[in-house]
Order: sequence, then C-alpha cells, then structure tokens
Amino acid sequence: MAFESSKEVLDWYDKQERTLTDEFIEALPWNEVSDTPIDEKFIPVLLYMRDVEVLTEMYHRELQRTPTGRDPVISKFMERWGIEEVTHGQVLDRFLNAMGYKTPEDWQKQTHRNVPKTYHANTYLLTTITNLLGSRFTATHMAFGAIHEMSTGQAYRKMKELANHPVLSQILDAIIKEEAAHTHFYRSVARIELAKSETAQKIARKVVETFWRPVGQGSLAKERTEYCIAALFGDDSGDGVDLLDRTVTRRAHQLPGFENLSKTTSRFREICQRLYPTLTSAATVLVSINLYAIV
Ligand SMILES: [Fe+2]
Ligand SMILES: [Fe+2]
Repeated sequence: MAFESSKEVLDWYDKQERTLTDEFIEALPWNEVSDTPIDEKFIPVLLYMRDVEVLTEMYHRELQRTPTGRDPVISKFMERWGIEEVTHGQVLDRFLNAMGYKTPEDWQKQTHRNVPKTYHANTYLLTTITNLLGSRFTATHMAFGAIHEMSTGQAYRKMKELANHPVLSQILDAIIKEEAAHTHFYRSVARIELAKSETAQKIARKVVETFWRPVGQGSLAKERTEYCIAALFGDDSGDGVDLLDRTVTRRAHQLPGFENLSKTTSRFREICQRLYPTLTSAATVLVSINLYAIV
C-alpha cells in the first residue's frame, strides 16, 4: 500500500478497529490464567513490558511539546496510540495479578515516579534540539518510532512463542495486532517524510545512530532492558539476534537514508552474547533484577 501523504496514512489507521476493546478484555478467561504455569524468568520481562507501555503517557506529553506533536495529522494519531499503549500495560498487569504476582494498586504511579531525573534532563535537551530543527524533525521522530514499534512487536511475538501460555497468547495476539498498526503508521510516514529531503535523511540517521537505545532504556533501568532482550532473544545459536536483524534492522534499511544501519543489531547482539550465559537460573535473575513492583 503506497501512501502519498501522512493524511492518507492517518485515514488508513482510523479504519483499523481496536482489538483490545473492553469487551475483548472482559471476555478473556481470567479465572483460567493460573491453571497453566509460566516460567518465572519471564515475569521480569512482563513487568518491563507493562512499565514501558504505561510510560507512553509520559512520551506522549513530551512529544506534544515538539514540532511533530503539533502536526495535526501526527497528533491525531498519537492521541489514539497513547491510549492503546497504556491499555497494553494495564492488561499485562492484570495478567500478572491473575497469575499470582500481586502488584501494588498504584503501580502506574510508581512506574512514573521511578523514572530517573537523568531521563527528564536528557528529554529536556532533546526537546530543545527538536524545536530548533522544527518540522524537519518529523522524519526523525517517525523513523525512531518505526524502529521502536518493530522491535516491540518482535518482543511480543517472541514472548508468545517462549511462554506458550494459552491466555497470555490471546492477550499477546491482540497486542501484536495493534503494534503492527503502529509500525505501519510510523514506517509509512517516515518513508514519506524522509523521501522529501536528503537533509531530513541525514538528520534522522545521525539522531538514530547517536540516541537510539532499546525501547524503554533510559526511562527504566538499563539492567531491566538488557535482561529482557537476553531472556527473549538470547540463545546459543544466535538465531534470536538474527531474527531481530531480519525483522527490525533490515526493515529499517528500507527507509530512505537508513541503508546499512547496523547499530540496532550490533547492540542486540552485544547484550545477548554478554548476558545470555548468566540467565540460566531464574531464581538468580529474580533476585538480581529490581522487582520493586512485586509486593
Ligand atoms: Fe504497546
Ligand atoms: Fe506500539
């Protein structure tokens, strides 16, 4: 589907129905969740996914202060995107509780409160830079978002495959569908915006090379980010990283100016190679990761 303007992409997005409706969530067999066990090593991963999702409220507020956030088409997309991501976090929290991992009632507030001051300082700096660049920054923001959405979608797919839990799989299928629509929006608008100018391509490539970190790193502890990547994509064969290379990095190469991007795959590979050998004991992991959310 070739779009010619971001408005066409928005019209397409508006036609996509939500999968995680209230009715869908209520109809899930919540009382059957604890009938099937889940490997404990995935609990920190689910907590991380949950936290990244609800922090979208914060990213959304930050983006509203940038030129892309003031773009009428993109801000309309972000209204719905922000709501969908928060639902993802909430439904994952409900799953954790149904599984027996009781989380505090104010977990959402706690997640926001735990964002380090350094994150806010860096964001202030970035917002200032983006305002200097004006609407030329839109291409960068969309390319950045596309890479984030693609890697998020892959993390959920991998989680579904590895956890192999009947109720979680239904939840993840619904989330994956919404993430795929987000990816399509970001990638399509990124393609349109990047194709407009070589300067936009150069800025976008430079910003991604300099500032890209795996989703959530910075607002959440780096150790948690790295743990999740290694737990989901680490293996002896390197197949998990190859999958990320095919589904994230090589798809990013299709964006104008992003040919030969290597930063994403090399970072994923470095994390998996360094951490995977230490992930053999779930008990060690649960102690070493800061599970402040479990009471
Ligand atoms: Fe999400
Ligand atoms: Fe998303």
